[in-house]
Amino acid sequence: MNVHPAALHRNKIPVFLTLLSVILIAGFVFFFYTTPGTRIGPEQPIPFSHRVHAGVKDIQCAYCHPYVRYSRHPGLPPVEKCLHCHNHIIRNHHWIQKEHAYFSTRTPIPWKKANVLPEHVLFNHQRHIQKDIACKECHGLVETADRITGKIFLMEFCITCHRQKNANVDCWLSCHG
Ligand code: HEC
Ligand code: HEC
Ligand code: HEC
Ligand code: HEC
Repeated sequence: MNVHPAALHRNKIPVFLTLLSVILIAGFVFFFYTTPGTRIGPEQPIPFSHRVHAGVKDIQCAYCHPYVRYSRHPGLPPVEKCLHCHNHIIRNHHWIQKEHAYFSTRTPIPWKKANVLPEHVLFNHQRHIQKDIACKECHGLVETADRITGKIFLMEFCITCHRQKNANVDCWLSCHG
């Protein structure tokens, strides 16, 4: 190869720019995945998949979160509910064995919370579900996710929809306890 020295020198600029963009992209990816609410979602004690259950197998949200319509808390399914199916379905799978271990020691499965709502905020599922607001308006397409990403619910998010739907925006009275 016969490269002119001037050409070599000119090549430094693209090399520098490439390096710079690699560093910027790596930095972006790092912050994206380490910022709570945007990362992949917490690793759970059993890799329960909403995609498999609510998506592929089309099990209704309310089957596992039965109180979402009637109470402030949607509820997470107790291990008995998992075993209702898994005493029959893939019963020898090692994750199902782990369900049995929780069940027989009467230990609730220590699910990690993905969603964050600041503590002083009063949020009530009931009021929203009864107005026919779909789960996905706030939680996204849970049925396509293996792991729930969750998010940090900021006031802006609540207010934007409340304005659009003419709901109460007097938040200091209704949302902040
Ligand atoms: C077969 C049972 C089952 C079904 C069906 C199901 N879920 Fe879940 N859900 C769970 C379990 C178990 C957890 C806790 C583990 C986790 O976060 O993955 C959970 C967690 C969640 C969370 C996250 C809670 C948090 O803050 O950490 C949301 C939101 C949720 N489900 C919404 C839905 C929606 C919406 C549907 C219907 C599209 C649905 N679920 C269907 C069992 C179920
Ligand atoms: C209504 C029935 C039903 C309930 C309730 C249910 N499952 Fe499942 N689960 C299934 C079916 C169906 C499959 C798919 C089995 C297959 O692939 O052949 C499955 C698959 C799985 C798998 C295999 C891994 C994977 O993602 O494919 C795990 C782990 C699992 N379930 C955990 C749970 C846990 C934990 C609960 C309780 C929170 C639960 N399941 C509740 C029906 C159920
Ligand atoms: C108007 C917005 C909104 C809608 C609509 C909504 N949610 Fe939620 N959901 C939230 C917020 C905010 C939280 C976090 C609240 C908390 O942690 O107390 C949450 C938390 C949850 C949790 C976790 C509860 C826990 O105890 O950890 C589950 C499960 C859940 N939602 C299921 C559902 C299902 C199923 C639907 C649809 C039937 C639904 N949500 C509709 C806003 C919403
Ligand atoms: C997708 C739209 C939507 C989002 C997002 C939403 N809301 Fe609402 N919210 C409504 C609607 C519509 C009502 C009116 C329900 C009714 O009239 O009973 C309501 C009612 C309420 C009420 C009862 C108000 C009253 O009159 O006493 C509270 C409290 C509330 N929301 C808090 C929140 C909080 C906190 C958040 C954010 C975490 C939130 N909402 C996010 C649509 C939404």
